[in-house]
Amino acid sequence: MTMPYVDISDGRSFTQGFPHEFFTWLREHDPLYWHEPTDVTPDGEGFWVVSRHADVDTIIMDPKTYSSDKAGGRTAGGTTIKDEISAGNAMNQTDDPLHRRLRATVNEGFTVKAIGELEEELRSRTRKLLGEISSGDHVDFAMRIAREIPTQAICIVLGVPEEDRLMLADWIDRGIETQSDAVIAVEYSRKIRRYGQGLIERKRAQPVDDIFSTIVHARFETDGSTLSNNELRSFFGLLFPAGAETTTRAISGGMLALMENPNAWQRLKSDPSLMKTAVEEILRWTTPSCYKRRTATRDVKHSGKTIREGDKVTFWEMSANRDDRVFNDPFSFDVARSPNKHLALGAGIHFCLGSALARLELKVVFEELLKCGLNFTLDGDLVWTPNNRLVGLMSLPVKAKAA
Ligand code: HEM
Repeated sequence: MTMPYVDISDGRSFTQGFPHEFFTWLREHDPLYWHEPTDVTPDGEGFWVVSRHADVDTIIMDPKTYSSDKAGGRTAGGTTIKDEISAGNAMNQTDDPLHRRLRATVNEGFTVKAIGELEEELRSRTRKLLGEISSGDHVDFAMRIAREIPTQAICIVLGVPEEDRLMLADWIDRGIETQSDAVIAVEYSRKIRRYGQGLIERKRAQPVDDIFSTIVHARFETDGSTLSNNELRSFFGLLFPAGAETTTRAISGGMLALMENPNAWQRLKSDPSLMKTAVEEILRWTTPSCYKRRTATRDVKHSGKTIREGDKVTFWEMSANRDDRVFNDPFSFDVARSPNKHLALGAGIHFCLGSALARLELKVVFEELLKCGLNFTLDGDLVWTPNNRLVGLMSLPVKAKAA
């Protein structure tokens, strides 16, 4: 079989969903693949592509060899732009000890316990949104439900005025949609950072009980200093989009999977205790944050090849999550799957800070959907985001019908 190559540095290769065929081939034939630079690779360099679960896990768990510093970002197609503004100062683009110091300022606010306090609020907001849909309605589920709850939740958590929510969500979406045009995509990320600066000034002047106030006023134990404006803008530019864009795609992708597998929907309805495993399966199945990028800090031998110091190494959690060396029948959506060692939320020191929030949002939204007295069917064409970093649906047209 010849390699079903697609240029994975080009967001437009993702407009039919994730290119699974190519990655299935890579897992089988070339688990450490060298991707040559193409016309759209923004910095003109090639990069390694790691596709098997065991290899992805090895790399995530070895941050000394595979550095995130100046490398975690992946905006604007390809793997990263060298001089990205947040490089080296946003938590996901730093190594320890700076990474640990940054993460310590926010960890407490994102624990399962702290996030659990939001459950009732999110539940009543979800009920309200679903209550506005009647039998016979045609709605874009991606916009009406999937985008709403995560953006509302991250506003509550960070203390962002809710009236600014749709403007911010639109900037994030435009940035994601225009990935193949680096200039436009960067302009949207600058808009978010500029908004962040205004918020920083307001929180400085008037601290409130929210996570962003805590970050703005946090003092490092070592020297009593606070974070600089640039570091704070990067914090906001990471936290708001991370909270808004990923779970959105997991919710719409989970809904699509349930509509395509009506037996799974019925099974969950009759046995709600399966929700815990269903949430993990939705995470595995959708893996919205589908790859990461590190830089090798030394020469390493891997799969019979040599990764040289300074080489870019991309690892693809979505591919790892379809690896039949780890998952039985990986292309079947199984709401009762157990064990489920997916890597959708990463692992190791950069393990997703928002994991408790993402899991809570998924649980609440799907529990309420199953109880709302409606069934949903696909009612139009899917629109996938033209982005290689964030896989998911921009539009999911559905029709509601009384259950
Ligand atoms: C389904 C939803 C989500 C998915 C699939 C997801 C996925 C991930 C993954 C794979 C990483 C690891 C990054 C790396 O190894 O470089 C990560 C890190 C991170 N996530 Fe999430 N995430 C989700 C939701 C959230 C939410 C709701 C927040 C809320 C703020 C969030 C904030 C972060 C942050 C700040 C990091 C960086 C942590 C660090 O570098 O220490 N994520 N996420």
